[in-house]
Amino acid sequence: MRQFFTFIAAFFLMQANAFAKDGGVLVFGGTGRLGAPIAKLLVQAGEDVTVFARKDSPKDRLSGLKIDYVVGDLTDDKSVAAAFDSKKFRVVIDASAQRRDSSKIDKFYETITRSIVVHSKRTGVKLFIHHGSIGAGESIKQVPALKDFKQSAGMVDKGMAEKVILEGGVPYVIIRNGLLPVKSDPPATGRGYLTSDLSTFGEITRDDLAILTLDSMYNPARWNKVYHAIDPDLKLRSERP
Ligand SMILES: NC(=O)c1ccc[n+]([C@@H]2O[C@H](COP(=O)([O-])OP(=O)(O)OC[C@H]3O[C@@H](n4cnc5c(N)ncnc54)[C@H](OP(=O)(O)O)[C@@H]3O)[C@@H](O)[C@H]2O)c1
Repeated sequence: MRQFFTFIAAFFLMQANAFAKDGGVLVFGGTGRLGAPIAKLLVQAGEDVTVFARKDSPKDRLSGLKIDYVVGDLTDDKSVAAAFDSKKFRVVIDASAQRRDSSKIDKFYETITRSIVVHSKRTGVKLFIHHGSIGAGESIKQVPALKDFKQSAGMVDKGMAEKVILEGGVPYVIIRNGLLPVKSDPPATGRGYLTSDLSTFGEITRDDLAILTLDSMYNPARWNKVYHAIDPDLKLRSERP
C-alpha cells in the first residue's frame, strides 16, 4: 500500500510542475475520512497544506504529516474568512460532511459552500474542488439507479451547494462521489475514475477519491466540469444512500 501511495505521489509531483505553486492548498474536512487521504497526498506532492478544523477535531488521521492548522467552524463565516486571510491559497478543497453535532443548521451545504466561494473569490483562489454526492439536487433525475430513491433534505441541499459554485465565478471541479464504504475504509483499488456521464452510479473508496482529487487539481482540462466518481467493480454496499 505504501509503495502504491509513493508511486502516486511521484506521479503528482511531476504534474505539479505544470501548475505553478504560488500559494498553498486549504482543505476543509481535512481531518475526516476523505479529507485526510487527500491532505496526505498533497503533502507527498510537496504542497503547502493547511487544514481547517474545529477546535476539537481529532487529528489522528493526519499525525506525522507536515500540515498547518487553522481553527474554525464552517458554519461560522467569520472563521472561514479568517482562514482565507491566514495565508495565500491557490487551491481550496472541500471534503467536509455534515455531522449531527456540528451542523444543526438548515441548508448546511449551501451555507458553507457560499462562504467558501465568496472568500475564494475575494482572495484570488484559482481552483475550488468540491466533493458532493451522486444524486444531488435535480441531477438525481439523470440517474436511473436512483429513480425510486426518495431524495433526502441533505441531497437537496447538496444540489443548492452546486448551484452556488456554478454561479460563483471561481474555477471549480465538482466531484459527485458514489457510495462510500461505511464499516471500514479499504485502500484504493486503482479502478476508481471520474466520468462526465452523469447518469452513472456506483461505489468508490475514499483513497481512490483522494487520487482523483489531485488528478483534477493538476489537470486544467478537468476544470469547470462536473463528474461522477465511481469504481464499477466495488460492491461493499448493497443499500442505497
Ligand atoms: N458516505 C457516503 O456514502 C457518501 C456518499 C457520497 C458523498 N459523500 C460525501 O463525501 C464527503 C466526505 O465524506 P466522509 O464520510 O469522508 O466525511 P467524514 O469522515 O464524516 O468527515 C467530515 C469532515 O467534515 C468536518 N466537519 C463537519 N462539520 C464541520 C464544521 N461545522 N466545521 C468544520 N469542519 C466540519 C469534520 O470535522 P470534525 O472532525 O470536527 O467532525 C470532518 O473532518 C462528504 O461531502 C460527503 O457528503 C459521502
